Amino acid sequence: MLISLCQTLLVYVPLLWFVTDGMPDPAQRDSLIRQEASRQTGGRVILTAAEQKLDSYLHRLKEQEMSAAPFPPAIHFFKAKPLIQTSSVFKLLQKMPKGAALHIHSSSLVSAEWLVKNVTYRPHCYICFTWDNSVRFLFSDRQPFPRWDCFYWQLLQTLRAKMGDLVAFDNSLMQRLTLFTEDPDGEYPSQDVVWEKFEKAFIAAAGLITHAPVLRDYYYKGLDELHHDNVLYLELRSGLSRTYELDGTIHDKVWALKTFQEVTKKFTGDHPDFLGARIIISVHRALTVSEVKAAIKEAIQLQKDFPDVVAGFDMVGREDSGGTLWFFREALSLPAELGVTLPYFFHAGETDDDGSNVDQNILDALLFNTTRIGHGFALAHHPLAKELSRKRNVAVELCPISNQVLKLVSDLRNHPAAVLMSEGHPMVISSDDPSLFGTTGLSYDFYQAFVGIGGLKANLGTLKELAVNSIRSELINFISFMSMFSCSVLTETLNTPHITLRIHFY
Ligand SMILES: *[C@@H]1O[C@H](CO)[C@@H](O)[C@H](O)[C@H]1NC(C)=O
Ligand SMILES: *[C@@H]1O[C@H](CO)[C@@H](O)[C@H](O)[C@H]1NC(C)=O
Ligand SMILES: [Zn+2]
Repeated sequence: MLISLCQTLLVYVPLLWFVTDGMPDPAQRDSLIRQEASRQTGGRVILTAAEQKLDSYLHRLKEQEMSAAPFPPAIHFFKAKPLIQTSSVFKLLQKMPKGAALHIHSSSLVSAEWLVKNVTYRPHCYICFTWDNSVRFLFSDRQPFPRWDCFYWQLLQTLRAKMGDLVAFDNSLMQRLTLFTEDPDGEYPSQDVVWEKFEKAFIAAAGLITHAPVLRDYYYKGLDELHHDNVLYLELRSGLSRTYELDGTIHDKVWALKTFQEVTKKFTGDHPDFLGARIIISVHRALTVSEVKAAIKEAIQLQKDFPDVVAGFDMVGREDSGGTLWFFREALSLPAELGVTLPYFFHAGETDDDGSNVDQNILDALLFNTTRIGHGFALAHHPLAKELSRKRNVAVELCPISNQVLKLVSDLRNHPAAVLMSEGHPMVISSDDPSLFGTTGLSYDFYQAFVGIGGLKANLGTLKELAVNSIRSELINFISFMSMFSCSVLTETLNTPHITLRIHFY
């Protein structure tokens, strides 16, 4: 207290002195500006001479983009995407090593285009159009039986043979697997409407992804898309859904984990610069307390059996309509009661409803010792929770495009994370549901965070800190567990026309 009082006096007393003298002292003003800038994310990162050169180049590019209209972060991502693709800043971000993707859901990992163009063209793929204008897919070696939601299954191969315009048909399938629309504001007037479409698209994709042979390729393709975007590591939230074979055989969660483990091993074998991937076991917050209890017991066991694959546990689904963390408190206390550790990675504060029970998830996540906070959109409104998360270095997983598409904020310059960034709050960037939003890798979300939320003051130091945070955040445990990198320094390089940026991960 005394120390901070002294600091305050040191900062403001000279200021007052000069103010009373008439014009504020320019040197004093510069010093304050520098002090404030040093507090932002990356504000204390020391840049080498080459990096400083790159930084001024980036700054100029940014100024150009910010003065052009329309400014991509200010408009809906579905309209901004083609503009972002032509951005020079974006192209640099694509080349930059971005560290780890720490908040992605398994049902939305791979682009919808691959699902349609590759997976639905595989043999034995049946489709059914539901009464509510959605679709279901099923791979089967015989004509599937009618179900409550699906009366009439058609073999896609037969259906396509009868089609005139295959491109239009495939586009219509893609539309059902993503949220994309040319008129997002008209089609999604409220959070309720967009969430409804969101859940529908998840269900539509499930029949494709949970086919056992597809899941294998799907994981590999997902890692490939991230690797392509210079991401080095993934933590994937997954419910480990049951998977099925052509003859209807069903595989359990252990099979899903083993498959994930094998695919990851194969991928890192093929791409030695990729560090690996783990699963955060997730259950839906629509479950009952006793169901969540059972899920936690199971997660504890799975983590014991697959310590190199299972990172921890989370609860998913729309926060505003599901049970709160406090509602599940009996279940969530189980690991501590049993004397075991099950790291938590809670979604918390993905809400606009300030002061509601849901809004308390932020504090409760911290009380349950969460390792990171998923979204933390409401964190800026909780000074105490903010202090706690900062003190414990609990990073916020910022997913800007998700927050915009799901209608928590429209102009990303007004995202509350702008406050967190200006204060250097621990933070990582992720993409949440890339295939539903139409992104691949992390570059689109990095762009929105760097150009939109961070504004002109976010610089190369900001980018470095964001990338390094994502590695520091969870990978330290992972790396020491694997004891692979204990004494080596990993170096990633970014080649720009004249300059090489190196980001070191220790
Ligand atoms: C589909 O994906 C698999 C695995 O990624 C690949 O081997 C195959 O060639 C692809 N098929 C088509 C038609 O693109
Ligand atoms: C959280 O961590 C603290 C300090 O390590 C511990 O005392 C407490 O029991 C933990 N709470 C839960 C719910 O795990
Ligand atoms: Zn999420």
